[in-house]
Amino acid sequence: MERLSSKAEVHGAVLAAKREGKSVALVPTMGALHDGHLSLVQAACARADYVVVSVFVNPTQFGPGEDFEAYPRDLEHDLALLAAEGADIVFTPNVSAMYAADAAVTVGPGPLGGMWEGAIRPAHFSGVCTVVTKLLSIVGPDLAFFGEKDYQQLQVVKRLVCDLDLPAKVVGCPIVRECDGLAMSSRNAYLDRDERAAATVLYRALRTAETLALDGERDARVIATALRDTVEAEPLATLDYAELVDPVTLQSLKTLDRPLRAIVAARVGATRLIDNMAIVPRQEQQ
Ligand code: PAF
Repeated sequence: MERLSSKAEVHGAVLAAKREGKSVALVPTMGALHDGHLSLVQAACARADYVVVSVFVNPTQFGPGEDFEAYPRDLEHDLALLAAEGADIVFTPNVSAMYAADAAVTVGPGPLGGMWEGAIRPAHFSGVCTVVTKLLSIVGPDLAFFGEKDYQQLQVVKRLVCDLDLPAKVVGCPIVRECDGLAMSSRNAYLDRDERAAATVLYRALRTAETLALDGERDARVIATALRDTVEAEPLATLDYAELVDPVTLQSLKTLDRPLRAIVAARVGATRLIDNMAIVPRQEQQ
């Protein structure tokens, strides 16, 4: 495994791999890797001959007062994990290598980026779209892997790639959870003991929604209310949103007449957590 920090080096290495007829996968990350990230790298290694993992804490997707400075960073540990998984290249640009001082063009996320997370973090998805577009141009992968944990991000990136005709296929990978259901996230490291216990409320709320759907409830508003009530019953959690939405357009739905997605976001102490789950109406499971 090689660690490369310049765009030109990565571009050159990928070009050489392509000349040998290898298929190329990109796994974009912000580092502080956990088993969720590693599942993306494993999926990439299973589907492509040559795997590039980027580790870059992207400043443009953090708003003022968010945790860009505090975001966990442990590059040595990340490199050891990625070597063990069999990644070929780890791309670790610094901010000035990634963004020219006079860079003026950004990539907008379209309407999907203004909803849910985008309503609370207004510049977030523009920062994500800009950096993902740049990473896709630098690496030129056949496949790019993203986790379903950031479900809205996955839908925004799929639209980005489709609408701009970017020549890569986006592959979404399932959420990886701790034993008690908490979705793995680099931000879980911020939680103290009591908050860590309280943080499972997001998963418990999603399971409540899933159970209601499996029991035959068809009114999405009833299920969304149960989702919200579960989170609000946890004293250490403050709900941002909890809703049942179309899995592609992310619009709120009123009836469970097709598979949909339950999405939830809450602050536990000072830490913002998001989670989601596929919800399938009862008769569609037969
Ligand atoms: O999901 C993330 O870690 C980031 O948003 C991404 C896709 C690496 C872009 O910075």
